[in-house]
Amino acid sequence: MFNLILFGPPGSGKGTQSANITSAFRLEHISTGDLLRDEVSRQTPLGVEAKKYMDQGLLVPDEVVIGMISGKIDEQADARGFIFDGFPRTKAQAEALDKLLEFKNTEIHLVLALEVPEQELVKRLVGRGATSGRSDDNEEVIAKRIKEYYAKTEAVAGHYNAQGKLERIQGSGTIDGIFSSLSKEIEKYLLPA
Ligand code: AP5
Ligand code: MG
Repeated sequence: MFNLILFGPPGSGKGTQSANITSAFRLEHISTGDLLRDEVSRQTPLGVEAKKYMDQGLLVPDEVVIGMISGKIDEQADARGFIFDGFPRTKAQAEALDKLLEFKNTEIHLVLALEVPEQELVKRLVGRGATSGRSDDNEEVIAKRIKEYYAKTEAVAGHYNAQGKLERIQGSGTIDGIFSSLSKEIEKYLLPA
């Protein structure tokens, strides 16, 4: 198994590049943002609770997200590996993921952190807001999401850096160019499928 975290602030291209990586390397894509939006659209109790946080640009509580992930990993026990997008987002989530994978006799092998200047993040997300239908893609909530990232999520990079697993990747430029930088790092562990 090969397990990858695609890390980075809101708008850094995690979703975009996850799609490319998933098809090139045949990994299972787990995006907590997508999973939560699915719960919201089905109006499940979890979704109704999560929406209160998402609409304010705040992180959903750790226990909600960790519970959701565990089930997802079990559903795809035969996978070649996973790509985690938007998870883990706090130190507690990172520690929970490490334990969960250890229990399954595997681990995170690589964390690729997309680095994009803040101005460009805002520009991309405001641009996406015109068509995404995402209630959090407006300037006020975008600012809060970015603030939340620096307050709570950035530390996750330090957690994996201490394990020698972190690689920083320049996340501005063309989508293809960034994909090729990401692929180069992944190919040190896994050949394209
Ligand atoms: P989530 O869905 O994870 O959103 P996010 O982190 O804010 O990131 P985005 O999905 O907005 O950006 P992205 O990095 O995927 O970039 P994308 O590829 O789309 O989370 C949403 C909310 O859910 C959170 O605020 C929180 O409330 C909750 N949540 C989720 N996970 C959680 C967790 N683990 N714990 C607690 N709460 C959680 O690209 C963005 C735009 O830029 C697109 O329009 C794209 O086309 C464009 N673009 C991409 N690459 C380029 C490029 N190279 N050049 C130009 N444009 C580009
Ligand atoms: Mg995304």
